[in-house]
Amino acid sequence: MRISVIGCGYLGAVHAACMAKLGHDVVGIDVDHGKVARLSEGKAPFYEPELDALLTELEESGRLSFTTGMEAAGGCEVHFICVGTPQKRGENAADLRFVDAAVAELAGFLSPGDVVAGKSTVPVGTAERLAEVIAARQPAAALLWNPEFLREGHAVDDTLRPDRFVYGVPDGNEDHPAVAVLDEVYRTALSAGTLRLIMDYPTAELVKTAANSFLATKISFINAMAEVCEATGADVTRLADAIGMDERIGRKFLNAGIGFGGGCLPKDIRAFMARAGELGADQALTFLREVDAINMRRRTRVVELTRELCGGILLGQRIAVLGAAFKPESDDVRDSPALSAAAQLQLQGAVVTVTDPQALDNAAKRFPELPMEPDLETALTRADAVLLLTEWKLYRELDPYSTKSLVSSARVLDGRNVLDPAKWRAAGWTYRGLGRP
Ligand code: UGA
Repeated sequence: MRISVIGCGYLGAVHAACMAKLGHDVVGIDVDHGKVARLSEGKAPFYEPELDALLTELEESGRLSFTTGMEAAGGCEVHFICVGTPQKRGENAADLRFVDAAVAELAGFLSPGDVVAGKSTVPVGTAERLAEVIAARQPAAALLWNPEFLREGHAVDDTLRPDRFVYGVPDGNEDHPAVAVLDEVYRTALSAGTLRLIMDYPTAELVKTAANSFLATKISFINAMAEVCEATGADVTRLADAIGMDERIGRKFLNAGIGFGGGCLPKDIRAFMARAGELGADQALTFLREVDAINMRRRTRVVELTRELCGGILLGQRIAVLGAAFKPESDDVRDSPALSAAAQLQLQGAVVTVTDPQALDNAAKRFPELPMEPDLETALTRADAVLLLTEWKLYRELDPYSTKSLVSSARVLDGRNVLDPAKWRAAGWTYRGLGRP
């Protein structure tokens, strides 16, 4: 099929590449000239495992191109809306400017029978409004809401082999002709047995926000337990292992630590609260305010623990911060808990050095005053305390003995609870985890 993908960020670039991998003819459209130029050379504009290889492979095939001109969408049969919906400045609500602009411009290039599939995370009620914008320009085109559940760091695999597809169709009509069109796009995964659920627009929009809210709640739940563990001397990782064995609870997303960040969970729960307020259902989501508050407290806790670890004073202490990305296998630093803690430590007088295998360029753009050091050994050299804040494999596998020979004082704060405390203590380190004795 001929497909256009509008918005080539973390979601759209991967989606475009994966659709071409499935055999479709794809054009990715983005207003950012730099991004389009890089993608056109077969290079990913951000770090995502497997994406560079996929882009290089597809460059040869001629099935994938990128442009800044929306007119390239004319002649495509399916159009995916993948632009960002960031948090509005100074407000909790989502900023829909990019979605609105993309759909308004695209509408002028639609032909009868075209299907527009919305993937951006939007407040409930947006699809219905956008469907009217489309109908006003091209009444014979259809809008489906087709939320995306990919995780950064696993984006290619999640797109090619998703858990499920969700199609939001007007009035939840399963026989809507656009359903067959989207089925054709996703034929490979559907024939491999991936389930698809058809529902109305508001339900499809809510599936996405509800899923992210649940994940955020699960993380904040275990971080709240970490706070209680800290007050009682209990170990939150053992607690998570034990409760996670109950299938109804499950062990995934029960890793206590410095908390969640990124371009999705934090802003999505806030936008959800804002939207519920507009709908008069704010009471239903007041718990998300607590989820957010617990999460933000973790960042302060890291600073407090570091101060304790350094004998009560941060001033002049050399702190090696391992990790800048909001999670491993990504160079995304949006609302990164690691960088937020690093910046707070620096403000309180610590001499901070941040290292990360992929995210330092992005980190330097957001926090130009924070010293960055690409070389791990150099970052560790003469440190008074080491903070593991993003659990990249190379940090999880650090050898406590050789690391000790580099630092000034063998003190480690394991912000993700991924190191073996016994091993580090045996090597002579003062070890602190979050919610661990
Ligand atoms: C999240 C969802 O997991 C995806 O399903 C969704 O599609 C995506 O948002 C989106 O809305 O686009 P992502 O932001 O890539 O994906 O990251 P996650 O893997 O969910 O991690 C989010 C944060 O939670 C990270 O900072 C991570 O370190 C933290 N986390 C995760 C924990 O602190 N503890 C855990 O147990 C798990």
